This record gives sequence, structure tokens and C-alpha cells, in this order.
Amino acid sequence: MRNDPFMRTYSPRQEALARASAQQRPTAAVRPASDTGSALLEAYRVKKEPYYRAVADEVELYEAAYSVRMPVMLKGPTGCGKTRFVEYMAWRLGKPLITVACNEDMTASDLVGRFLLDANGTRWQDGPLAVAARHGAICYLDEVVEARQDTTVVIHPLTDARRQLPLEKKGEMIEAHPDFQIVISYNPGYQSLMKDLKQSTKQRFGALDFNYPEHEVEAEIVAHESGVSLEIAKNLVHIGERARNLKGHGLDEGLSTRMLIYAGSLIAKGVPALGACRMALVRPITDDPDMRDALDSAVTTYF
Ligand SMILES: Nc1ncnc2c1ncn2[C@@H]1O[C@H](COP(=O)(O)OP(=O)(O)OP(=O)(O)O)[C@@H](O)[C@H]1O
Ligand SMILES: [Mg+2]
Repeated sequence: MRNDPFMRTYSPRQEALARASAQQRPTAAVRPASDTGSALLEAYRVKKEPYYRAVADEVELYEAAYSVRMPVMLKGPTGCGKTRFVEYMAWRLGKPLITVACNEDMTASDLVGRFLLDANGTRWQDGPLAVAARHGAICYLDEVVEARQDTTVVIHPLTDARRQLPLEKKGEMIEAHPDFQIVISYNPGYQSLMKDLKQSTKQRFGALDFNYPEHEVEAEIVAHESGVSLEIAKNLVHIGERARNLKGHGLDEGLSTRMLIYAGSLIAKGVPALGACRMALVRPITDDPDMRDALDSAVTTYF
């Protein structure tokens, strides 16, 4: 599988470097603040068109949502194309994309920013959400449901008519840049009562449903991404579909497009199909010997 060159996950170090280089330019002193901002965001620009195969009308719907700056929620199982889609849309709209991988240890300060101590005393450092809101980027909160609810509420004033981000510790109110938009991803299968978005969060978003694409389209994607022939890709998709039918009958989750691409990539490297499928499709998703046998026999039907 190709390395994904489009992913621009927020990194404080990268931001500090971009900030320093923006400030080092000879004309920095007379540059307006927004120019420093555009240098800051340069690192988050999606420079090359990501390959994205539209599955339905999601591209048009997203464009319409962006045109009114509606916050968007991408819903769907793991490995079905949500991240690739948002990268493609950021490229298509020509907007920088700041991705934040959410987790339960994440605090509001991780999103909004904090005071840091350095040789000259304390200085404020914007968090990824503040950078995106201030300078005008698409902010993608990946797996937002992993974040605690008291963290998630910091996005509320940004995701309603106010479009503001209060930096309480700094005593500043950021009025969101006109280009700013917030996108979250959400896997509807993984929620428990303890871990779900509040209705007051959900109801601030428009939602797009994602799923594994239909056979021909998924085969096209697998062939493109892994480098195997369309014929081999179709066989991989058949195996994927068989496995997806076992969801809820011994398998917790269907087999993702990502896994099919992994299997295809091994095959394209010369690994025999049987071994490639065992490694990339069967072994990762189950430890149950009967289930492994069932999946192995699905593999031997097609290879
Ligand atoms: N419609 C599509 N067009 C192009 N590539 C796709 C498409 N759908 C899936 N892919 C491929 O599948 C891979 C996995 O998709 P992606 O990483 O976007 O999944 P995801 O939905 O974000 O998963 P997760 O919830 O685990 O983060 C991508 O790297 C890409 O190669
Ligand atoms: Mg993703």
C-alpha cells in the first residue's frame, strides 16, 4: 500500500518551526498577522490530489455544506474512506487541513492551546483548533467520540451561529476565520452508553454516511491503491463481502477496504495470494479457530 502523503496530523513541533520560519523572514515585522497565519498553515496544505473514488453524491453534498460552513460529521466503519475523503475535499476546496487524532486523555487545552514556559517567560501557544479557527483551515477531529464529553464541548461555540472560540485562560475570543470549518469522524458501531456524543453535539452537525463501496467500485479502489489487477481485486472484494456477512455471527467488525488493500499490496509484491490473505485479512480480525477456518476457506474459494 502507498504511504499516505496527504495526512497532516497536528504537530506542535511542526507548528513551532513554521512559526519560527514565518517570523525569520526579513519582512516579517511589517507583515500583517494573516500572512504569518498563511505561512503557518502552509504545512497543512494538501499539495497533491489524493486519489478518491466518489461512491455517491458525497462530494457535492460536502461542497454544499462547506459553502454554508456547516460542520460535518463523517459516519462509518473503520477503513472505509472517511479520512481519504476529507483529504480529498480539502484539496478540492484548496483549504489547509489540520487533523487531530482524539483520545480519552485529550484535554480542552490540547485543542485550544496553553501557556508555555520558555527562556523569556510564558507565551501562549494556540492548539490545533485555535490555529484552524484563527487562520482559516478545515479542522478534522478524528474519532471524536474517544474524547471526553467535557473536552468535546469546547467545539460548541464554534459549531453554531456564533463561530467563536473563547480562549478562557488567555482572555481572548477568536472569531472564526471565514474559511474555517470543523469535520468530525464517528464510527457508529463502537459507541457505548458511556462513550457517545451528546445530542447537543450531534445536532450541530450535518452527517454523511460512509460504508464499504459496492463490489465494482471497491475493486477499482483496491486495484488502484494496491497495484493488483482488477481481476485479483475483485476476488479480494468477494472475500471481503463473505467476511462482512459474518459480522454479528462471530465477527465484531466487517473486513475493511483498508485490509483488502493491504492484502492486494502483499500480492503485488509477489507474496502468494493465500499467505497474503491470511496475514492481511484473516489473522488480524479473529483469534477464534472456527472463524479462522471459515475465513480461510473463503480465501481458498477465490485463490
Ligand atoms: N472511496 C475511496 N476512494 C479512494 N480510496 C479509498 C476509498 N475508500 C477507501 N479508500 C482506501 O481505503 C483506505 C482506508 O480508508 P481511510 O483511511 O480513509 O478509512 P477511515 O474510514 O478513515 O478509517 P478509520 O475510521 O479507521 O480512520 C485509504 O487509505 C484508501 O486507500
Ligand atoms: Mg480515518
